[in-house]
Formats: sequence, C-alpha cells, structure tokens
Amino acid sequence: MIDQSKNTLFIGKVAIHLKTVDSTNAYAKEMLSKSSPIEGTVITTDQQTAGRGQLGSKWQSEACQNIMLSVLLRPKFLLAQQQFALNAATALAVYDFLNQFELKKPLSIKWPNDLYIGKEKIAGILIENQLRGKYLDWSVVGIGINVNQEKFPSHLPNPSSLFLQTEKKYEIPPLLFQLYASLERHYLRIKAGRVNEIRKEYVEKLFQIDTFAPYLMHAEQKEEYGTIEGIDLFGRLLVRFKDRLQAFDLKEISPVL
Ligand code: BTN
Repeated sequence: MIDQSKNTLFIGKVAIHLKTVDSTNAYAKEMLSKSSPIEGTVITTDQQTAGRGQLGSKWQSEACQNIMLSVLLRPKFLLAQQQFALNAATALAVYDFLNQFELKKPLSIKWPNDLYIGKEKIAGILIENQLRGKYLDWSVVGIGINVNQEKFPSHLPNPSSLFLQTEKKYEIPPLLFQLYASLERHYLRIKAGRVNEIRKEYVEKLFQIDTFAPYLMHAEQKEEYGTIEGIDLFGRLLVRFKDRLQAFDLKEISPVL
C-alpha cells in the first residue's frame, strides 16, 4: 500500500501512539487541559480500557485489531449551532475511507454518524466539542473502525469489520494515513465554507434515506413507519410520517432493523 504520510498538511503530523489507554478521547481532552497541542495532533492506541461511545455508551474493540483514534481540531470558524457540520464532514471522511474497499453490501451513514455496511455497524464517531462564546474552540474527533476483528461480544447488536466484509486482513498504520487524508479533505471543505455541499452529500448517504421503513420512537416506545427526508439546520433527523414531519434529537429514534 502507498505510504500517504506526506499527503496531509496538518492531520497526523504530530501523532502519539499509546499501547493502551482508557480512552483516546479522554486522553486528548486531558492534553487540551494541560498543554497547547497543535491542530491535527492525533492520538492512536492498540487498546482502550474504557472506550467511549455516544451518550455514555461504551466502545468495545479487541486489542491490536482495529482503528481507535482521536484527532484534535480547532474549528474556531464554526458557530456552536453549526457544529453538526463537523459530524457530517467526519462521517463523510470515514465513508470515503471505507468506500475504497470492495464491500459486500452498500455503505451508508446511519444518523447521526455511525457507518453501516448493509444493516451492520462497522465504525462509530464520538465528537466532543469545547466552545468559546458562540464558536467552537476545540474538537476532539474520536473514531473507531473495526478492521481485523473476527468475533464480537454477543451483546453487541449488529457489529461488522473490514475483515468480515472483505475476508482480508489489513495492516493498521497505512490505513491511518489514508484516513487522515480523508479527514483533512472534508475538514478543509467546511473551513472553506462549503457547509451546504457537505450537508447535501451527507444526506444522500444516509441509511434508509427516502425509504419507507419502521422506526422506534424511544419516548413513546412506539413503532411507526416513516421516511427519512434529511436533517434540519441543527442536524436533527427529519422523518416524514403519514400525518406529520418530525425532527428527532440523538437517541430519540432508531430504525427497526
Ligand atoms: C459510537 O458509535 O457510539 C461512537 C464510538 C466512538 C469510538 C471511538 S474509539 C476512539 C475514540 N476514543 C473513545 O473513547 N471513543 C472514540
């Protein structure tokens, strides 16, 4: 595989590799509180002992098999209310990275930023932002991608990995450089103000976009058929039901798989 380490301007130029850590996101946030890291600094690890997922969930990943990293970004140009643009850009970056492989099933972004192959999850993203006034100051962009893992704990609902999809094993370091290049490309697009373009591409790649399908509404514990139409300005998911168009926040709705 081609070494792409020179293909980025800033992401991955400083890279800290830890054999083991509680969570690369927690480590990156600690760095922010104690030092002045340069933008694009990446923390990678072989193993997390307390990997974090969205809204307090856990991220479990077998040691030395997968990509687990956090990138420190400084999107000072983004208003807090536009922060979803960074989620969308990151999801697109991971999408493009995964799309280079010959996958058995279609790749999509399950709102807000899980990467799915068919109905199985192959990657997750956890972005933790620090604000300064109305703007973002720092973002810790945490990414977990299942690469070589063959077996997953039975309680995980629908995990997958590149190995399970392609029947090949991969060396992790060259993949990291490809991922950095993809992340930088999409991040520079938001920095250049191309947020609408990012949103459009993100929506086109959404899992079950424009497809009539069943959804579970968590508050009411009720299932209802509807169609995902896109996202609103704040990144909430817009679902059309027979009698209404409804916007959903994180963990308010999930597809019935
Ligand atoms: C999710 O799907 O809920 C998000 C998972 C994010 C996992 C990654 S692994 C590297 C980084 N460090 C963490 O503790 N979490 C993220």
